Amino acid sequence: MIIFKTAGELRTWRRDAAEKGLQTGFVPTMGALHDGHLSLLKAASAGNALTLVSIFVNPTQFNDPADYAKYPNTLDRDIDLLEKAGCTALFLPSVEEMYPEGLPPSAPHYELGFLETVLDGAYRPGHFQGVCMVVHRLLKMAEPDNLYMGQKDYQQCMVIDRLLELTGMNGHISLHICPTQRESDGLAMSSRNLRLSPEERHQATAIYRELKAIREQLHRGDLISLKQKAASNLEAQGFRPDYIEIADARTLQPVGEWDGKRPLVALAAAFLGEVRLIDNMIM
Ligand code: PAJ
Repeated sequence: MIIFKTAGELRTWRRDAAEKGLQTGFVPTMGALHDGHLSLLKAASAGNALTLVSIFVNPTQFNDPADYAKYPNTLDRDIDLLEKAGCTALFLPSVEEMYPEGLPPSAPHYELGFLETVLDGAYRPGHFQGVCMVVHRLLKMAEPDNLYMGQKDYQQCMVIDRLLELTGMNGHISLHICPTQRESDGLAMSSRNLRLSPEERHQATAIYRELKAIREQLHRGDLISLKQKAASNLEAQGFRPDYIEIADARTLQPVGEWDGKRPLVALAAAFLGEVRLIDNMIM
C-alpha cells in the first residue's frame, strides 16, 4: 500500500492511473477503522482497479470541540487493516494540507436547503458545511471515478449526493451507498463506540431495538405516538435523545401521518454519557 501525505503526491498518482485507464474507488474516513469502513473498501475493490482510502479527522465538521479532541485515533492498527484488506493507496493529509489558508477556512457556502434544517442539520449546526468542505477538497484532489459511503450516515449520503450535483462532479463521479454493518447484537459499527464504557456498550443496542420496534409496529395514519414511545423508551434506558424521527426516505421530510405508500426511514440520534450515537433503518 502506498501512503501519501500531500495533495501533490496524490494528484500525480491519480494522473498516472487515469493515463493507464485504471478506475479508482475512493473511501473517505476519519480513521479508527472498523468492519463498516472495510465493507466500503471491499465494495470499492470489487468495482475498481485501484482503491484509495483517506484518513483525516476533519476539524471543520465538529460542532463540539470536546468531540474533536476525543475522537479515537488508532492509526497503526488502521494502516495494518488497510494493508491486509488489499487497499492500493492511503491518503493521510495534515490539517495544513487540507486547509492551507488556516482555520476557519475560506470556503463557499453550500446550498443544502431543507436538508440542512432537519435532524443532524438542526442538531449539529455547521456540521454538514464542514463535511461538504472537506469532501469537496478531497474529491478535487483524488478525482475518483467512484465514491463509497455508508448508509449508517443516511443524511450525510444525501448531503454528498447534493454536493456532487452542486459542483457538477456528478458528471464524472458515481456515489455508491453501502449497507450499515452491525455488531452481532445489532449496534451499528461506529468509531465512537470505542468511547463507550462496558456498561454503556451494553446499553447502546437500545437504539437498534427501538428502530426495529418502529419498523415492526409501523402502520398507516398517525405516527406521532410511535415516535414518542421510542424516544421515551430510549430515555428510560439512560439515553438523552436529540431526535427519533420517521421521515420520507427521499427527502427527510418528517412524516406525521402515513399513507402506507411513501417510502420511510426511521432515524435516531442520542447521547449515552458523553458519546453521541446515530443510526437509521429503512422501513
Ligand atoms: P467516518 O465516520 O469515519 O465514516 C467513513 C465512512 O464509513 C462514511 O461513509 C460512513 O457512513 C461509513 N460508515 C461508518 N460506519 C459504518 C457502518 N457501520 N456500516 C457501513 N458504513 C459505515 O463519515 C465520515 O467519517 C466523515 O464525515 C467523512 C465523510 C470522512 C468526511 O470527513
